[in-house]
Amino acid sequence: MTVELVDWGRLVAKAIEARNNAYAPYSGFSVGAALWTQDGEVVTGCNVENVSFPCGQCAEANAAGAMVSANRHSTIHAVAIAAVSRHFVWPCGRCRQILAEFADGDTPVMAVAGDQRSAPLSLVELLPHAFATLG
Ligand code: THU
Repeated sequence: MTVELVDWGRLVAKAIEARNNAYAPYSGFSVGAALWTQDGEVVTGCNVENVSFPCGQCAEANAAGAMVSANRHSTIHAVAIAAVSRHFVWPCGRCRQILAEFADGDTPVMAVAGDQRSAPLSLVELLPHAFATLG
């Protein structure tokens, strides 16, 4: 999907809604992610932390898991990520690879900080040379 056709207003609102559900008592850093799937649905996730810190899971990873669990395993057409932060937060390295599993290189990713939206970056800009075994 081209950037212009994405309903960013809806996607951003969903990412913020998910961010408000974050369980982040250890970092105090709430993140929400919203994925626009091939069928035009939006699937969300938030970060879920754990007292055993490495067990925590990022918002994007939870959103991708929710998408597959809901049998909406499809191409991700756009992503919005909202964090409680003054700067734009981009997916961590692991989450870039997780998104790449279900998205194309030109899938746009937008970051949201407060009421500010970033210009979208494509996934390949965020993760050039993604790991792949398929030639
Ligand atoms: N976090 C995300 O949810 N997504 C990212 O892409 C980066 C970091 C979460 C993990 C942790 O709960 C908190 O932000 C602080 O690192």
